[in-house]
Amino acid sequence: MHRPRPCLYRAPVPERNRTSRVSPLPLTALSSEHASEREAIPGFREVPRTGVIYVVTEATKRGYTSLDPEWVNLGQGMPETGAFPGGPPRVDSITIHPADLEYAPVGGIIALREAVAEFYNRRYRKGMPSQYTAENVAIAGGGRAALTRVAAALGQVNLGHFLPDYTAYEELLDVFRMFTSIPILREPETGYEFNASDLRREILGRGLSAVLASNPANPTGKVISGDALAGWVETSRDLECALILDEFYAHYVWNGDAPVSAARYVEDVNRDPVILLDGLTKNWRYPGWRVAWVVGPRSVIDAVSSAGSFLDGGGSRPLQRAAIPLLDADYADREAKVIQEVFRKKRDIMVSRLRGMGVRFETDPEGTFYVWGSVADLPAPLDTGMGFFQAALDAQVITVPGEFFDVNPGKRRTARGSRFRSHVRFSFGPSEAAISRGLDRLEALASPAAEPERRRPAQK
Ligand SMILES: Cc1ncc(COP(=O)(O)O)c(C=O)c1O
Repeated sequence: MHRPRPCLYRAPVPERNRTSRVSPLPLTALSSEHASEREAIPGFREVPRTGVIYVVTEATKRGYTSLDPEWVNLGQGMPETGAFPGGPPRVDSITIHPADLEYAPVGGIIALREAVAEFYNRRYRKGMPSQYTAENVAIAGGGRAALTRVAAALGQVNLGHFLPDYTAYEELLDVFRMFTSIPILREPETGYEFNASDLRREILGRGLSAVLASNPANPTGKVISGDALAGWVETSRDLECALILDEFYAHYVWNGDAPVSAARYVEDVNRDPVILLDGLTKNWRYPGWRVAWVVGPRSVIDAVSSAGSFLDGGGSRPLQRAAIPLLDADYADREAKVIQEVFRKKRDIMVSRLRGMGVRFETDPEGTFYVWGSVADLPAPLDTGMGFFQAALDAQVITVPGEFFDVNPGKRRTARGSRFRSHVRFSFGPSEAAISRGLDRLEALASPAAEPERRRPAQK
């Protein structure tokens, strides 16, 4: 007979629901509000969902569906996917060849690997003696599959990762138990700056053999580019510390340095320990295709491809073939350009309207399609990320509380509060019209004239 036991849903728990002592349970597992009644099955653990999935689950409980035009999803990690005036045509059909019915090679089809290598050489490495080839590229079924392969290929080392960063890193950095993940702080007070000498100090002081970072960074929008990025690459080369850069937002750069990639500063493609990840998800706005790649020294690519042989077996063959023309110089550059135009406008609208509402920014977003701000100056209960999130849900707007990005692999940190409990991530991935509608509602919520009951307490 089944004895139903609550399945502890390991979404991050709002500060106010946390116990003050260290609990024997994972800290993110404690909220009965988030627990669903499920039978515990021996041998299995509860696998947490990432913060973005959590917020969508909470919204769904209140009636959200992605097709409901009444809702505005400013939590979404996805760019709008339609055609833009002046942009290249969108692909809306693909042909499946008889050969596509077979497996793709685990490392990806050779023609796409060549196209990716050529894309990096053309865009970032013109005239440099060392050039990428297909041997330097592995294809995977989406960004997280690519990241998982890289993580599975790491040895018994200390891996540095940054706080805050992309929520999916939390489980990713724990699940393989081979390497030890060491958090490195990026400070709101310095606008999340992190220069090459900061990196050098962390690598030496913490005995790091690898560092993982998103650049442009999710959620802060901070971009390391130009000389600063050259300094990071040089430091990684000098100290023989692998630099794993997640460049999924390389086209979304607002500081004048677009597009950004550390590929520009690699000297020897097979010796410099620089590993880059990108794909069609954001920079080409085809998240549903699940086509991504890892670019790096061929020995790393061999290991990453081997990891794919037991983890996922390789990406979709027809979509890999369909991806080849998208890496064409003209297509990719036109897409990057139109992204710059359309998203910069949305960014400017969002930054200025949120600022008008009293949201504070330590740094204006230099990249990505996120705005990361502190709501600490807003009236309660809008003055915490969780309070803001709950109140915005009542207005049918989805946001993401900042504490979800305070990634905590293995839940090894204790119950102390997150540095980002007053932060919120707002996405300008949706269309301009949707963003404007969402901002109208958030303005109404935050306006001094709003009735206090419209801002009901974060959790009842
Ligand atoms: C920094 C970063 N890297 C990688 C990804 C993963 O993309 P995918 O949806 O292809 O797994 C995301 C998606 O949100 C991201 O924000």
